[in-house]
Amino acid sequence: MKIAIIGGGPAGLYSAILLKKQRPGADITVYERNRADDTFGFGVVFSDATLDNFEKYDAPSYRRITQEFAYWDDIAVHFRGTVHRVGGNGFCGCSRRTLLLILQERARELGVTLLFETDIDDEARFADADLVVLADGINSRFRDKYIEHFQPEVDLRSNMFAWMGSTRPLDAFTFIFQETEWGPFIAHAYQYEVGRSTWIFETDPVTFKRAGLEGLSEKQSADRMAGIFGWFLEGHQLLINRSMWRNFPMIRSKRWVKDNMVLLGDAKATAHFSIGSGTKLAMEDAIALADAMHRAPTVEAALQQYEEGRREEVEKTQHAADVSLVWFEHVDRFWNFDPVQFAFGVMTRAKAITYDNLTLRAPDFVADVDKAFARQVRARGFDVDVEKPASPMFQPLRLREMELSNRAVVSPMCMYSAQEGVPGDFHLVHYGSRAVGGAGLMFTEMTCVSRDARITPGCTGLWNDEQEAAWRRIVDFIHANSAAKIGLQLGHAGRKGATKLMWDGMDRPLEQGGWDVLSASPIPYFPDSQVPREMDRAAMDAVKAAFVASALRGERCGFDMLELHAAHGYLLASFISPLTNQRNDAYGGSLEGRLRFPLEVFEALRAAWPAHKPMSVRISATDWAEGGVTGDDAVDIARAFAEAGVDLVDVSTGQTVRDAQPVYGRMFQTPFSEQVRNEARVATMCVGNITTSDQVNTILAAGRADLVALGRPHLVDPAFTLKAAAWYGAEISCPPQYLPGKEQIFRNSIRDRQDLDDLKIKAKPKTRAELKAEATKPLAAE
Ligand SMILES: Cc1cc2nc3c(=O)[nH]c(=O)nc-3n(C[C@H](O)[C@H](O)[C@H](O)COP(=O)(O)OP(=O)(O)OC[C@H]3O[C@@H](n4cnc5c(N)ncnc54)[C@H](O)[C@@H]3O)c2cc1C
Ligand SMILES: Cc1cc2nc3c(=O)[nH]c(=O)nc-3n(C[C@H](O)[C@H](O)[C@H](O)COP(=O)(O)O)c2cc1C
Repeated sequence: MKIAIIGGGPAGLYSAILLKKQRPGADITVYERNRADDTFGFGVVFSDATLDNFEKYDAPSYRRITQEFAYWDDIAVHFRGTVHRVGGNGFCGCSRRTLLLILQERARELGVTLLFETDIDDEARFADADLVVLADGINSRFRDKYIEHFQPEVDLRSNMFAWMGSTRPLDAFTFIFQETEWGPFIAHAYQYEVGRSTWIFETDPVTFKRAGLEGLSEKQSADRMAGIFGWFLEGHQLLINRSMWRNFPMIRSKRWVKDNMVLLGDAKATAHFSIGSGTKLAMEDAIALADAMHRAPTVEAALQQYEEGRREEVEKTQHAADVSLVWFEHVDRFWNFDPVQFAFGVMTRAKAITYDNLTLRAPDFVADVDKAFARQVRARGFDVDVEKPASPMFQPLRLREMELSNRAVVSPMCMYSAQEGVPGDFHLVHYGSRAVGGAGLMFTEMTCVSRDARITPGCTGLWNDEQEAAWRRIVDFIHANSAAKIGLQLGHAGRKGATKLMWDGMDRPLEQGGWDVLSASPIPYFPDSQVPREMDRAAMDAVKAAFVASALRGERCGFDMLELHAAHGYLLASFISPLTNQRNDAYGGSLEGRLRFPLEVFEALRAAWPAHKPMSVRISATDWAEGGVTGDDAVDIARAFAEAGVDLVDVSTGQTVRDAQPVYGRMFQTPFSEQVRNEARVATMCVGNITTSDQVNTILAAGRADLVALGRPHLVDPAFTLKAAAWYGAEISCPPQYLPGKEQIFRNSIRDRQDLDDLKIKAKPKTRAELKAEATKPLAAE
């Protein structure tokens, strides 16, 4: 077999090694345009898990690599004169040059031919090769040559970065967030061998320009960075080697394989440097290719297996990298944070590390996060313990005069079980049991302001006395038997009205017994949905009056809070999104025009609703569709409602148009809450695939929301919050009838948690840094 490998970086060399081990008789050549020791970059970083993989696939190169490595366990975050360190991370660094020399040596040893200073510009010369590996890096000539086939997507990110080195020793993966007269600068730094560390500097494009970095030579810009970070460099030099400032390209390719050619490493996909995975991905691609070549009967089948088997893992890493890079791009959102809360945000930015996980590894750090959170709550007038504080989920919150005893919320959820809008026994049990289950706040399902404002015939309403009495019974029960507060969500279905019950066909038009529907513009939801009537001024006045009348009834029922539903494509949302609002009058066009009617309704409600009671608005912070509402629009929308007196923005997304393309995942809407909260500076509630109290605490502690709503988890577990309180040992009220159950779960939880923590600690292998520290520890004197 003949294999040609274009590119002698980590991907090319490691695939040569693994393929040659597998097929000693094969003729394998690596073509590299540079000289053997002519490499850019400083250090590379691998996690312990990646090194385990290297050990398994090629022990000799693993041994040489790990002999040369620097190990560290801590991540240190420097911000505004403070430093927070978190251990247990298990990372290793090595010089990129040394890594390549080790891989070259090992490849030669196995009989791979290495041809340096050989620039390949046409793969036709490999016509007789069985396999051609395209490992030619981020600017891959061959990916671009077959651009139509590979279909790469290059997303050039906004921040500028430059890769430098230093002689400054470091004992932790170090992030430095530095305020300057021009704006914020970030350094990502780690040591990779004795006396050598990698320094990646990053800043936003405006700060970059203001700092006069444009057009500077490498040396001049290194001097500028040395000036900014001089206090930390302590006289050590900054080193340069192709250290130009650039924008990071996130590259994704639709296809990785063409005939017998295959893309590997950066050529196929990149991952932002903030998660330190570029070289790891390149070498793990080589492993995946070698595995596929081992298993499959033909090269063609192997390449197909490689592409199919490897894609999910690469996309997962790229997703984590995306989340991480977005955090760094928007670091100004957190610049006013308490430093310990800021550091917690850095640690938890990519979702893999959470509140509970950090509690196990760095209990003192999390204790400081809890204290800072409690101090903020105390500053708002609550008499909470700041020395032994409850976790963020169990900290109180005040909105106007409404006080919540914890931050967990039952999200509004239609039960489709009302008769002519009247909530019945099902609703009493449903809402009652969730209130008793401990949530600080709960919302009613979307309750409709008139008969023809309903989504389905099963929706609850609040337009007549019978409905008012039925709701009062529910509210009274909740107030008499729990500490929960209850908010009324008022809405109008708009063009999504007159549809079937959820279990008969969500959003599908009723076949019989429907009613006329209204919207901002006469555009049906499904092609076969009813065409809605475009609202004229008279219709707007009637709808506004209906909202106000329902709110007054809500006040008589005793609701603690009022939420205006302006999300999910219902009537008010249909005004806000440009995809559903195509009006030419004052209620369409710009965002200001599209917000005019929803704001008018909000203002009328605010005037009618008692001044001491809070109001929220639920918005779709993105339509997940081309040309629709975006996160940036959501900030403007939130600002407009805040000016009109909203106390809380309930940040949901989507459900506006049928062809939306939401990106689902754990906590998938939380980034929008984070953006709205920290850019519009308004309190937010986040929601969406948040399923554990650990996630609730992670979100709150990182300042990504003020309240966390859970929908589906509450459908199956009314006592979600009570159970979480037992887990964290937090105060929670409970009806006297249920006290024996509460006492039991609190007692058992302490033991269960201890057992689980012990198990996790036992199951966790020692990091290489820990093993190295143990090995070098002087023996205690007898
Ligand atoms: C300036 C810079 C500095 C970096 N520094 C670091 C760092 O310090 N630490 C870190 O972890 N990551 C660093 N990276 C990222 C890291 O290099 C990559 O993620 C990783 O090396 C990807 O490995 P690869 O084998 O896919 O590509 P590369 O390492 O880029 O290797 C591709 C190789 O192909 C060769 N080549 C390209 N075209 C041809 C051709 N037509 N013919 C012959 N040879 C060709 C190139 O010369 C190169 O040696 C850096 C990247 C850049 C751009
Ligand atoms: C059965 C059901 C009914 C819902 N009804 C409403 C509603 O009436 N009003 C509303 O704003 N959101 C409604 N939602 C959306 C939820 O409030 C929540 O935003 C969504 O389910 C995502 O949160 P989760 O992942 O915690 O379930 C509903 C969700 C479900 C599952």
